[in-house]
Amino acid sequence: MDRIRIVGGERLTGTIPISGAKNAALPLMIASLLTRETLVLRNVPRLADVTLLGRILGNHGVDITVVGKKVGQATTDGQTFKLKSAEIVDTTAPYEMVSRMRASFWVLAPLLARCGEAKVSLPGGCAIGTRPVDLHLTTLEALGASIELEGGYVIAKAPKGLTGARVSLSKVSVGATHNALMAAVLARGDTLIENAAREPEVADVAICLKKMGAKIGGIGSATLEVEGVGHLHGAEHTVLPDRIETGTYAMAAAMTGGDVLLQNTRAELLESALDLLRSSGVEIEETPSGLRVARNGGGLRPVAVDTEPFPGFPTDLQAQLIALMCMAQGTSTVRETIFENRFMHVQELARLGARIDLRGDTAMVTGVQGLAGAQVMATDLRASVSLIIAGLAAKGETMIGRVYHLDRGFERIEDKLRQCGAHIERLSG
Ligand code: EPZ
Repeated sequence: MDRIRIVGGERLTGTIPISGAKNAALPLMIASLLTRETLVLRNVPRLADVTLLGRILGNHGVDITVVGKKVGQATTDGQTFKLKSAEIVDTTAPYEMVSRMRASFWVLAPLLARCGEAKVSLPGGCAIGTRPVDLHLTTLEALGASIELEGGYVIAKAPKGLTGARVSLSKVSVGATHNALMAAVLARGDTLIENAAREPEVADVAICLKKMGAKIGGIGSATLEVEGVGHLHGAEHTVLPDRIETGTYAMAAAMTGGDVLLQNTRAELLESALDLLRSSGVEIEETPSGLRVARNGGGLRPVAVDTEPFPGFPTDLQAQLIALMCMAQGTSTVRETIFENRFMHVQELARLGARIDLRGDTAMVTGVQGLAGAQVMATDLRASVSLIIAGLAAKGETMIGRVYHLDRGFERIEDKLRQCGAHIERLSG
């Protein structure tokens, strides 16, 4: 199993290109199930989750061609995928696949919308919480599907097609919103999705669905209006920049007292996180090519924040913020409101000398004079990267185990950090 070794203490300086967003690329790939024609996706990040989803879609009959690199293209440019699902050959998504990646459960709605039936394994719990799928199922029922649970599988049927309806999500859910949208675009009649997730990745998928011929109003708002159409066609779409990767490297720069340019990204994707960093004393400047993030000498002020659905502070940056606040002068309060078990990084950060008092859903983080390298273990994607950030600032050597979690969501992380002066290497085996 690969490990990552960091010798901390270097300021990060230089340029970091930001990749396409994992959490948009995955549902965009899934959207290819909705049409027989080719969906071309540009700026797809090179990630383990993308590769695995490609295999899962392949089982359903999607043909995926990865377009070769053109002369003059940099390795930092994302990949171009051509996805064509002329025929759906299998409407079952088996446990062995869905249990390896939760987002693959989202094939349920497009398979049902296109084929009138789908059998998809329940994803089960995961490291960050129980993560139920009740909202996905009630949404499909509202659109006229019959749902049965059998042997750990969801069996959804709508032999005469889905019918538009008013769907009010009782909780803001990114996945359930994707699911409702993908079901509604091919349903007969109009669908109103209330309390929809407003995450930029949801808007990106809706924009792509519109290019494919869907009729969707209210994109980016909490109320989506969908007028069902008979079929969707091919389209071309560029995946938006990864706001979580952006925020992560912004915090890494702040953590090391560095000065970096985050290229190919946009402030509007993560205003709440940037405002929080500014309030802590981090300099952030929008430039024509991205965002410049610096902390030159000044100390960090503590913060108080709750994680919230977009446009609030994202749960996917909570672990990284806790790592950063270990360097603040005072005690920060970070409350996790989205997932009930997303603090596994806390005990690992403690191994590096962090002072974090966990009280229920709230972490009280008291800044320390300095962190010191140690052996730690990655437990989930965002938790792992918080250990990287901490390791970059810690004195001496930090060795991070189980880094396969990182490869699910951070493209070429060692390269990107090394190019900015970090001492970081991957040890294989
Ligand atoms: C998406 O997960 C992201 N995954 C997660 O990113 C992200 O943390 C999460 O949204 C919140 O922003 C992808 O986009 C692939 P939710 P999702 O449904 O859609 C509850 C990462 O690190 N809920 O918005 O699965 C749920 O338990 C990952 O990249 C129900 O109660 O999250 C949670 O408390 C991890 N019933 C809340 O809603 C349901 O049917 C929000 O979850 C569905 C969700």
